[in-house]
Amino acid sequence: MTLKRSTACGNRSVFYVLTGLESRLERHRLGFRTPGVASAHPGPSLDLPPKTFRALLAVPVAQKLFFGDSADVHNLSGASELLDTFRDNGNSHLNINNGGAARGAHVKLSELVEDGIFWSERLEAQLPTGFTEEHTRIWRERTRGHPIVSLEPGCGRISNRLATFSDGSRACVRYGINADQVQGETLTYYLATLLGIPNLPPLVLSQLNPESEQWAAVKGSIASLQWTGKAIVSLTEWVANLTGVVTPAPLRQEGRGLHPLREELENKTLEELLELVQWSDLIVFDYLTANFDRLVSNLFSLQWDSRVMERDTSNLHKTPRGDLVFIDNEAGLVHGYRVLHMWEKYHSALMGSVCVFRRRTAQRVIELHRLRDARTRLLQLYRDSEPLAPELGFLSDEHAGILQNRIDRLYKHILHCKGKYSQL
Ligand SMILES: Nc1ncnc2c1ncn2[C@@H]1O[C@H](COP(=O)(O)OP(=O)(O)O)[C@@H](O)[C@H]1O
Ligand SMILES: [Mg+2]
Repeated sequence: MTLKRSTACGNRSVFYVLTGLESRLERHRLGFRTPGVASAHPGPSLDLPPKTFRALLAVPVAQKLFFGDSADVHNLSGASELLDTFRDNGNSHLNINNGGAARGAHVKLSELVEDGIFWSERLEAQLPTGFTEEHTRIWRERTRGHPIVSLEPGCGRISNRLATFSDGSRACVRYGINADQVQGETLTYYLATLLGIPNLPPLVLSQLNPESEQWAAVKGSIASLQWTGKAIVSLTEWVANLTGVVTPAPLRQEGRGLHPLREELENKTLEELLELVQWSDLIVFDYLTANFDRLVSNLFSLQWDSRVMERDTSNLHKTPRGDLVFIDNEAGLVHGYRVLHMWEKYHSALMGSVCVFRRRTAQRVIELHRLRDARTRLLQLYRDSEPLAPELGFLSDEHAGILQNRIDRLYKHILHCKGKYSQL
């Protein structure tokens, strides 16, 4: 199971050794580079008037990203180990109905937040489970190599297809126009697994081969789509009955951000709070992966579309039981890092505007900061879980360095929040 493996990978005494596989991954990745390929996501123009940028960046607390190590990090992480459990038994579905009394009632801040900056255990217990480890394992095992009987529209742009398997289940197949896209989607998925963020649909890779059992029935579609043979595509679970999600007011441009404060949280319904808990993970995750294709691109669009925040957020959906589903993560890690200079102010502003976290996520960020082993653990998890890892390749050293650096900055931010709010 992926999460268990990731835990096993965290053996602190083992230093990572450059293996033959890793060098192959790197060589392969370099071979894939296609300089000059137009980006599918044109970033903001660099010649914007500085005033526009300043106005857009006026998200509170945005400027304070670096501060002294004044708080006690051991206190910060120690207690959290007790709670670092995976609710993976399928019993903890969203319980808004059961919690009906609490829904409209005035809930005290002390019941919502613990140890200054963490969503309370009580609140966490009400959260929908997301894609559990067990669900993910079963889906991945069943999907690998399983025959696909049709490829149709239904998953967005033309290069994505809705695949139906012979047992009637479905997946979104993403054919990357360049390798960055599938790599970004895949490595982002594994980073979420490493962090214990359960909001991304399960993913497996597949290599196109019209003669294989998996693809034979749709070889005509592959030909008409002009998908090149042997390309690596990603398959993500198709989820029924998804709806759109509007960014909550505190996280919009004019919002105050998300802080463990009475005036910000006590007037919320349980449903709103449970969504905010998941949003706090989303902000952390999109910051680490530098994925601009969700909230950050909306912030940018505000300059010509003042109502953009009132509409559904890109690449984000919600299930009927309240799980947020983070889809289309292909801008993360690879492409996002390549165009970081264009978006970083927005990423930092958003990250700096959130000071309340899921304990497990914060715990894992702290561990990855302490051990400085984000690259090692991500690579280990990826190659242990995905047989096509050598074919698709891994992060460059430069991008792995950026990931570690972002983890370190997020850690400092968590520490800052702890110092600021734990005394209240
Ligand atoms: N895993 C999924 N389950 C259900 N619907 C999906 C899934 N992935 C994508 N979709 C549908 O396809 C739309 C576009 O998906 P997305 O992956 O963002 O494609 P694009 O690459 O075109 O941006 C989504 O808004 C959603 O309606
Ligand atoms: Mg999309």
